[in-house]
Amino acid sequence: MRKPIIAGNWKMNKTAAECRELVTALVPKVKDAKCDVVICVPFTDIALAAELTKGSNIKVGAQNVAWADSGAFTGEISAAMLAEAGAEYVVIGHSERRQYFGETDKTVNARLTQALKYGLKPILCVGEKLEEREGGMTERVCATQVEGAFEGVSAADAEKVVIAYEPVWAIGTGKTATDEQADETIGYIRSVVEKLYGKNTADGMRIQYGGSMNAKNVDGLMAKPQVDGGLIGGASLKADDFAYIVMAAK
Ligand code: PGA
Repeated sequence: MRKPIIAGNWKMNKTAAECRELVTALVPKVKDAKCDVVICVPFTDIALAAELTKGSNIKVGAQNVAWADSGAFTGEISAAMLAEAGAEYVVIGHSERRQYFGETDKTVNARLTQALKYGLKPILCVGEKLEEREGGMTERVCATQVEGAFEGVSAADAEKVVIAYEPVWAIGTGKTATDEQADETIGYIRSVVEKLYGKNTADGMRIQYGGSMNAKNVDGLMAKPQVDGGLIGGASLKADDFAYIVMAAK
């Protein structure tokens, strides 16, 4: 049995003052959640979010991590810095990073390896673009991204990773994958993990759906056997919306 995990991806939203307001409202609303609850916040909100969620069931995550320990990497942030600030999770390889900031399967692999080295739990994002789905390339794209990300990663470390299947065409567009598309592709991704690490690791790995997941579609998606939760963008920015999704994940 895999415990579902619902993670908010705030992206570049919420100043510290806004973070305080949202987290303070969220804590009591999700205290009886049956799933793991994570909020992946901007770097400048991590320490504050960690303080505000202390003693609650909400864990804090970051949205990126450098592949090096420290040094001349202007604009990057290290795993040690994130861990010390109170992050337990980190989103790696989000399609927006791949699309706008030159993230590749190689850099995703390097960041994932580094996160694991420092005890951060990666939420690894994979997913196809619209033209790739329409061209029948979904499985090949997802397999390449998963295989690339896990290159050189041991089975023991792989088990600490959460995968988020996020079809790029569904992110921020209001267009959700159908329950069947999500279930089918996540099942396929699980088969790729099985090929890499065997059935036990694949059966235990939590694979979320992400892309316009909201209060209206959460029940249908969560009812699917392969869907182990969600990575929630827009709908994680309001306490009521996010809490509804969290409480629907059992
Ligand atoms: P969305 O974003 O829920 O706003 O589509 C999801 C994501 O990008 O992780």
